[in-house]
Amino acid sequence: MDAVKIGLLGLGTVGGGTVTVLTRNATEIARRAGRGIAIAHAAARDYNPSAINGLDQIARIGDDAFAVVNDPEVQIVVELIGGYSPARELVLQAIANGKHVVTANKALIARHGNEIFAAAQAAGVMVGFEAAVAGGIPIIKALREGLAANRIEWIAGIINGTGNFILTEMRDKGRDFADVLAEAQALGYAEADPTFDVEGIDAAHKLTILAALAFGIPLQFERCFTEGISKIDALDVTYAAELGYRIKHLGIARRAAAGIELRVHPTLIPHRRLIANVDGVMNAVLVKGDAVGPTLYYGAGAGAQPTASAVIADVVDVVRALTTDPNNRVPHLAFQPDALADTPVLAMEAVETAYYLRLSALDQPGVMARIASILGEEGISIEAIKQKEPNEGETHVPLVMLTHRVREGLMNQAIARIEALEAVAGAVTRIRVETLAG
Ligand code: HSE
Repeated sequence: MDAVKIGLLGLGTVGGGTVTVLTRNATEIARRAGRGIAIAHAAARDYNPSAINGLDQIARIGDDAFAVVNDPEVQIVVELIGGYSPARELVLQAIANGKHVVTANKALIARHGNEIFAAAQAAGVMVGFEAAVAGGIPIIKALREGLAANRIEWIAGIINGTGNFILTEMRDKGRDFADVLAEAQALGYAEADPTFDVEGIDAAHKLTILAALAFGIPLQFERCFTEGISKIDALDVTYAAELGYRIKHLGIARRAAAGIELRVHPTLIPHRRLIANVDGVMNAVLVKGDAVGPTLYYGAGAGAQPTASAVIADVVDVVRALTTDPNNRVPHLAFQPDALADTPVLAMEAVETAYYLRLSALDQPGVMARIASILGEEGISIEAIKQKEPNEGETHVPLVMLTHRVREGLMNQAIARIEALEAVAGAVTRIRVETLAG
């Protein structure tokens, strides 16, 4: 049988990795897909030929991405340019032309996935996006197929490799934030705009996708609460360790009584949890299903060949399903499109979690009691409290507290009241705490 012809948009880190892996493993991949896979047409603005093995296997390379999606020879368009636009227009054009699409673009799927999947459904084509979440980890496949029997209760994931790399290097080697970020950029891990990594936007894109697949709800990126890692202080890393915790930047999606929690923020997790020990650029996703219990997926979350691994797996899936009835394929968002639920995504004020608080309080009788009584009045129960030694000549001491679970809205009120006390200097640092118990 003839090779399936793909069109490749982008020859950057992931595009280059895809060409390299497709070339190196061509025979093995063809044995799995049932046919060879040939790159008929690629488009890229600029690329580094010395970083890519197999460029000579590409029949035609140009710089016009629309020429690729309009090329009658191309059956599957592989979109690896990233960003919202022109990726959205290119993907919609490919679908309108009756082509299947594979993309690694989490921003595109999180923001425009509902529109893209509706168009694909109407056209009877597939859109694969395994590489959009957690790089090389087959988490989309696991959620959509492997866990199909379960009612998913919650997901918690380290889903941004750059952020995890920064936190790990800061903790283990005391390295400077900016210096580690520059290294992540040089290694091709970081987004074109690295604030997407450090402010949690990239993780929010990925969590939005995971939540839709887990709970059968439409993609709702705009409802995701997002807090980054740029304000994490070395002090908190140290105090968290003394209390038996590690700080990780987590994406959490949970089915609560009133709706779905969807939140990305730094989180204290017990250091004994496997996921607390996921370091560097590695990603990990914990999924709790009612039947299977907790399951953990671990692997490289970024980088050329790990991401190419997921892209090519999607291409193989599409090749295998080319002749199947479009109505009998695995649904894009795991649930049948007419069976998506309108369960609301909760506002952050309605989310319930435990907290780590750090504040600077006047070292005087009655101050601790006043703070504890404000927490009590707001219905917040303290689990642990530590007063650290004051620095030489200082009037204020650091106070560190762990609380039991409480609604974020009540915690906001308590923090505002504590910050208004004359005996408290500056802002209260708040980091959410999750035990992630199975
Ligand atoms: N910038 C992303 C990360 C790339 O660091 O995880 C993979 O999506």
